[in-house]
Amino acid sequence: MTATNITSDEYSAFQKFLENAAGIVLGDNKHYLVSSRLGRLMADDGIKSLNDLLKLLTRDARLRERVIDAMTTNETSWFRDAHPFEAFKEFILPDLAKKVTGPIRVWSAACSSGQEPYSLSMGVQEYLSSHTGGLRSEVEITATDISPTILEEAKAGVYDDIALGRGLTSDRRARFFQKSGHHLEVRKEIKARVSFRSINLSQNYAALGKFNVILCRNVLIYFSSEMKRDVLQRMANILLPGGYLVLGGSESMANYCDAFQMVRVANGVIYQLKPR
Ligand SMILES: C[S@@+](CC[C@H](N)C(=O)[O-])C[C@H]1O[C@@H](n2cnc3c(N)ncnc32)[C@H](O)[C@@H]1O
Repeated sequence: MTATNITSDEYSAFQKFLENAAGIVLGDNKHYLVSSRLGRLMADDGIKSLNDLLKLLTRDARLRERVIDAMTTNETSWFRDAHPFEAFKEFILPDLAKKVTGPIRVWSAACSSGQEPYSLSMGVQEYLSSHTGGLRSEVEITATDISPTILEEAKAGVYDDIALGRGLTSDRRARFFQKSGHHLEVRKEIKARVSFRSINLSQNYAALGKFNVILCRNVLIYFSSEMKRDVLQRMANILLPGGYLVLGGSESMANYCDAFQMVRVANGVIYQLKPR
């Protein structure tokens, strides 16, 4: 399959499939993206056209998973954009430390290959080493993504030089990693706070329980306005009173959900659940 032999009917049927399955809105002129992301998978399985693929997708759950996997963008880095992690360490954790008696529950809602939840866990470690008395309770980080392949990478927590070069200071690299063959692996005390699960944000996630903090970063940009509204409202429903929500640098609450108030902190903006 090449970008030029995708018919407009099969392209729009594929757009519908992706939006229904993962909430991802594919622009009208992304034929090249579809052929470059799916070309290999289709060649491996001997699938000749997008139409043939669409027929198989109706009855093959594993193929559906692989196609969604191939169509997701997993771009990420350590301490991405810096300020959310400063806000977490300097503002959110001290605030919750005063108020919360049970475990502090944090959700990294589209965690990609693990840099986001592990950066949070490193932030907790730094907070503990600079605050005598530390926290009264454990911090539990639940990290989820729709892509099973990327979750496997995240769980392994082993990174090559290219991945390590994106956002890590040499000091953090030395403190929070150990050697694993030619690569580096996140140390076990950092891993211990993080548990990974597969969750599709277009489906129900109430079973995850309630959270004090949710990071939903650089994933809303792929969704329709309707889906953004729905995801943000359902996140508001599972935040504990006074809980925080952190979005990506190019994402905002706009008019999607009125359950949150804006808080300016660490040269950026985070959101806090309004008192009900
Ligand atoms: C660009 S990465 C962002 C990673 C990280 N949050 C960050 O800001 O660096 C977007 C992630 O969202 C995931 N994703 C896309 N659609 C999703 C959905 N419907 N449910 C859950 N995760 C989804 C992708 O698999 C990908 O790993």
